[in-house]
Amino acid sequence: MMKYELRKLISLVFVLFATLAYGADEAKMDKFIGSLMQKMTLREKIGQLNLQPAGEVTTGGAMDTQVGGLVMNGDLGAVLNLAGKDRVRALQEVAVKKSRLGIPLLVGLDVIHGYRTILPIPLAQACSWDIPAIEEGARIAAEECSTDGISWTYSPMVDIALDARWGRIMEGAGEDPYLGSLVAAALVRGYQGDFKERQNIMACLKHYALYGAAEAGRDYNTVDMSHLRMFNQYFPPYKAAVEAGVGSVMTSFNIVDGLHATANPWLLDEVLRQKWGFKGFVVTDYASINEMESWGFGKQKENGVKALKAGTDMDMCSQAFLNHCEAAVREGLLTEQDIDAACRRVLEAKYRLGLFKDPYKHCHMSDQEQAKHIFTPENRQKARDFAAETFVLLKNEGGILPLKKQGKIALIGPNANTTDGLLGSWCVVRPAKDAYPSLLQAMKESVAGKAEVLYAQGCNLSDDERQDAAGFANAPYRTAPRVDAKQALQEALKVAAEADVIVYAGGEGAEWSGESHSRAIIELPDCQRELLKALKGLGKPLVMLNFSGRPTAMGWEKENLPAIMNVWFGGTEMGPALCDVLFGDKVPSGHLTVSIPQMTGQEPLYYNHLNTGRPVGDGDKRFRQYQSNYFEVSNGPAFPFGFGLSYTTFKYGEMTVKQEGRNVTATVSITNEGDYDATEVVQCYIRDVACRYARPVKELKGFERIELKKGETKTVSISLTEQELSSYGPEGNLFFEPGEFDIMLGSNSRDVQTKRITLK
Ligand code: BGC
Repeated sequence: MMKYELRKLISLVFVLFATLAYGADEAKMDKFIGSLMQKMTLREKIGQLNLQPAGEVTTGGAMDTQVGGLVMNGDLGAVLNLAGKDRVRALQEVAVKKSRLGIPLLVGLDVIHGYRTILPIPLAQACSWDIPAIEEGARIAAEECSTDGISWTYSPMVDIALDARWGRIMEGAGEDPYLGSLVAAALVRGYQGDFKERQNIMACLKHYALYGAAEAGRDYNTVDMSHLRMFNQYFPPYKAAVEAGVGSVMTSFNIVDGLHATANPWLLDEVLRQKWGFKGFVVTDYASINEMESWGFGKQKENGVKALKAGTDMDMCSQAFLNHCEAAVREGLLTEQDIDAACRRVLEAKYRLGLFKDPYKHCHMSDQEQAKHIFTPENRQKARDFAAETFVLLKNEGGILPLKKQGKIALIGPNANTTDGLLGSWCVVRPAKDAYPSLLQAMKESVAGKAEVLYAQGCNLSDDERQDAAGFANAPYRTAPRVDAKQALQEALKVAAEADVIVYAGGEGAEWSGESHSRAIIELPDCQRELLKALKGLGKPLVMLNFSGRPTAMGWEKENLPAIMNVWFGGTEMGPALCDVLFGDKVPSGHLTVSIPQMTGQEPLYYNHLNTGRPVGDGDKRFRQYQSNYFEVSNGPAFPFGFGLSYTTFKYGEMTVKQEGRNVTATVSITNEGDYDATEVVQCYIRDVACRYARPVKELKGFERIELKKGETKTVSISLTEQELSSYGPEGNLFFEPGEFDIMLGSNSRDVQTKRITLK
């Protein structure tokens, strides 16, 4: 008891000191910025709100970017797309030495899944369910880019995405708000740390809000949804990132309640600032203010005014603030206080990053020194270990996997012999070509002296040459070369006929997902399916590695192929990581964070849907008149949310559920019954059976990633509090409604044990 009291006292004293120190820091910052702002003209304050592209990296429409003059005049507060420490330093010197007040620039870039050591795409990262590894990934990215002039990353993207046609589903954590919230907070922590070190860069939460709900999965399309759904299904990851202290927020391209997200006082002021307590600054997305005219909101000036009034602080690429804010203040459309509030928030961000103390803090290293931080063996090893955790084994009939390192292995497919094709969309600064291996090279190395690898491309990625070339205008790199279809098929069959086992590396091209890359058909292209059918006809063990930036509709593959592993895009270390798993040095542990549909027409498909009044079971294949189902396909996915196999088998004991007031604990014992030490993700779902608002049939509310040695048994308890059993009303307030709840535990969202309890 004494010990407890003492500990409590010590921690109270600690909190008191921390608060005082923080308060003192804040007061110092306020004083510094206050006195700086006194010296600033209105025009200079507006300059701080202007963000322009300044480099060769392209992430949007081409811009005329003569930024040197803007910087010198104090007309620019931040730049994006300028990479390289020497170039950043040169521009920063203009800001510091040649502009009147010497205010340093913020330098932003889309460092989304790694800088030069490319990590798995974010969707894949989430499939690891390994929150510390996700945080560490962000730390690696920040560590690398912060040696190269970057102080601000446009990540994390935390948009919930339910429609796999949407290309940017690759950039988020998937379809679940609970998991998405944990990932969002981890990424913020990983990038920002405590802002004290060089490698602590500013994160930018995006795209606020609802960008992932674009109708029909077509990028930039309109969004319309109830507040109830926003608060329960879409907002939690944004809120979690704010609670984790994210320094900046990017608005989305879409409409929310009929207003553009960039000029939406309800979103930016009422919810983000007042309800959630966001203290940082808000930036638009690329030229969003200009796009408002296309949406039908009038001209640049009034849109700029509306955006600033609503709570947007910084204008990316439109130059609307710079063009019009001075006049708008003169005309009384804006007040000087409006400008001051926005300017102060931007300056605070620079202060927190330590840029006033040392504007060159991200540009100091010599090339030799920098090489010790970028694409290092340590970072690459971490990326390799991480990538291995993201692969999701979907089917493994007859235990084809792991493969033995013996005999002849035919490696076939358009993604087998590519390095660029492993990276995935959103690596704007690429590692040097040939600095890392393709799957073919990695496999040859991995089995050297033991087995022989035979290779054939087999087919084109797609029958459509244009789609095959997607992204090439933006990124000067190629995945699989175009081949003559008939000849390639014949070659592949010849190679495969000689082999003992066939590994097919296909799926999507690395640029078929990502920004603006939406797809109307998410099945495998016909040419790939034809090849797979022919390979299957050989009657040999066949493993399909599905590279993808989104769920691939896999009804046919599930029925017809014996082994499938979804491998996403794993980054620079994907080749070796795949070999680690294929040959059993590591055991797959990834679990889906998106539902894999049987066919495109099921989209948007997600596990946490409402029941409808005429529900039909997921696996029910018979068409039922006047029920909620389709003629052609059952309602369920090919592979459900949370699903992922291992090389071992886990046996779940019977679940018990303990209630103490409104606290609930679900407990189960799990035994590793197979031959491999392995990792399992134990998942806990709830259903609020009866509530004043309709609630989903299942909601993830907890999970535990556990390691089990072969033969080992562990007991896992997942505790839920009143908070997890509550939901949001349309005003965004959490409420608990007593009554019946289903508590579910299992290894995925489909295969669960359920106990119904009543909570008072
Ligand atoms: C994207 C953002 C990105 C920005 C800057 C936009 O087109 O939507 O996610 O951060 O460009 O590159």
